[in-house]
Amino acid sequence: MKKIIIAIDGHSSTGKSTFAKAIAAALGYTYLDSGALYRAVTLYALDHGWTDPEGRPNAPAIIDHLKDIRLSFGKDPATGLNRTFMNGKDVEELIRSMEVSRYVSPVSEIPLVRDFVDMQLREWGKKKGIVMDGRDIGTAVFPQAELKIFMTAQAEIRAERRLRELQSKGMDATFEEVLANVRQRDFTDSHRETHPLVKAPDALLLDNGNMTVEEQLDWFKKIMEEKWDIRLK
Ligand code: DC
Repeated sequence: MKKIIIAIDGHSSTGKSTFAKAIAAALGYTYLDSGALYRAVTLYALDHGWTDPEGRPNAPAIIDHLKDIRLSFGKDPATGLNRTFMNGKDVEELIRSMEVSRYVSPVSEIPLVRDFVDMQLREWGKKKGIVMDGRDIGTAVFPQAELKIFMTAQAEIRAERRLRELQSKGMDATFEEVLANVRQRDFTDSHRETHPLVKAPDALLLDNGNMTVEEQLDWFKKIMEEKWDIRLK
């Protein structure tokens, strides 16, 4: 079976990574989380104090040091899932903190940061057989992707999901805080100048507000069957 690139874009906390991991597993593909790379660059900036209390990153300092940041994914032997590494250190948990979430959108707005991340993603994409999720995968990183899916859901539903995820990891946050963060990120992601979050005209829309993961998988399997004649278990 010919291997393809599947691009999954959409709003924050729509369950893109859960969906992307599930379809990657069903196809035997590699899952790559592009947001993790923006989060890792943000963590690097925070670790070095290149941010101010208003949430603005120090773009010149970050740009100057992009050459010092090496990003990679490593497989967790227990779960088989990818973990994010920065300069050889496992930062998978650190990059998911509220602090990183607060700064990541403005960091991802910096055009040279986007070039840095895109270069890395395109390199990994050469192998095909990948499912990559993000905000601009189908529009900017892999506009030639064979299958594009755009995910969305109501902001309150997404905030509820994100809150549960944070709480399950023992992190402290309120619903209002998380909802404000989700709305803020929607706005910044959709209004930035470079590669804003927008549905590619040829992307399939998946509004999963009232769908379980199983229902989303069934939706995907139907598409694979109808469009590509690929039958998945
Ligand atoms: O998917 P996520 O929430 O982990 O992404 C973190 C941030 O990174 C998100 O606020 C926007 C940015 N991002 C982006 O601009 N482009 C991508 N392809 C992926 C993420």
